[in-house]
Amino acid sequence: MRIGPYTLPNNLFVAPMAGVTDRPFRKLCKQLGAGYAVSEMVTSRPDLQDSLKTSRRANHEGEAAPIAVQIAGTDAAMMADAARYNIDRGAQIIDINMGCPAKKVCNKWAGSALMQDEALALQIVEAVVQACAPHGVPVTLKMRTGWADQAKNAPTIALSAEAAGVQMLTVHGRTREQGYKGQAEHDTVARIKSLVRIPVVANGDVNSPQAARDVLAHTGADAVMIGRAAQGRPWIFREVAHFLATGQHLPPPTRAELKDWMLAHLHEHYALYGECTGVRSARKHLGWYAQSFADPAAWQASACRQRINTATTCDTQLAAVTDLFDEWDALGHVPGAAAHTSFAPDTPTLDSWKLAA
Ligand SMILES: Cc1cc2nc3c(=O)[nH]c(=O)nc-3n(C[C@H](O)[C@H](O)[C@H](O)COP(=O)(O)O)c2cc1C
Repeated sequence: MRIGPYTLPNNLFVAPMAGVTDRPFRKLCKQLGAGYAVSEMVTSRPDLQDSLKTSRRANHEGEAAPIAVQIAGTDAAMMADAARYNIDRGAQIIDINMGCPAKKVCNKWAGSALMQDEALALQIVEAVVQACAPHGVPVTLKMRTGWADQAKNAPTIALSAEAAGVQMLTVHGRTREQGYKGQAEHDTVARIKSLVRIPVVANGDVNSPQAARDVLAHTGADAVMIGRAAQGRPWIFREVAHFLATGQHLPPPTRAELKDWMLAHLHEHYALYGECTGVRSARKHLGWYAQSFADPAAWQASACRQRINTATTCDTQLAAVTDLFDEWDALGHVPGAAAHTSFAPDTPTLDSWKLAA
């Protein structure tokens, strides 16, 4: 699997998720089997480029190549500038966001609203491709199947984007109108795959090794992208890779592995966000991790959970996480449960999208 000059180790991608797939999480996913990860969306608005949130998102220290940065906006010239700005800060691939359904994005900036205005969408794609070309930086596009059920125009946009020089397309199998309701459909991805020559990535509700195999087979897509099912379970990528290669399920991670990964994740997280913000923003990741290996009632009642969520220093939170593993049996851990049951991802509210500003 290639994107422009970059050969990827495999075709299992981490979906960009604002507020989730920051650099520490992307690094962990790559370490645990993901072949590619795109940064959380960053705004194209120059007035917000120096905000702490945006500058954290533009920091790629220690991340394995290729560094892919997603940009969002509705103004072609601003988007071209945003592409150049991020290339100057290390981006090796620029991804255009046409998939975000959040009101904050659709009203003010971009996201899937762009799919309603095909001419503007194309203008943006052309401007970004032109800005990236002198740097040899490939441009990719992430979109939904369309604006609404009666307006599934992703195939039309796919063809014009390919003609404009886009080098890979990712399609989330829902319309903007759907938000996250219902099941993702992958027929539209299959259709796009039959129309274009560039790589196509299928996304939406891939939450198990079997689902990844089925979506790849149904669509003929070159890769699958996994979002919510990787929250608290970044090892899903190695599980999928193993299943695709052998048809067998990989044994679930051991307690020692989980502990190592979670503690390493926390150290990276604190290093990026600092103690005050880091301890608070780590709670969501820790809650997701616990959901993937503990009985929910036991986790709710766990004294460690309380300590993790009230900790105000890195040391106290790290100690609570370390103690969590001493409570392993009390947490109702069932070996194999996390790896083999079908993970039902939380349906995010639109408010849960944290934007770069
Ligand atoms: C919390 C959250 C934040 C997201 N942020 C982004 C984003 O910044 N850019 C983007 O293109 N998609 C974003 N998405 C959409 C995902 O990339 C993906 O398309 C969607 O979740 C469907 O895939 P899944 O079923 O594997 O989760 C976000 C999704 C969630 C749940």
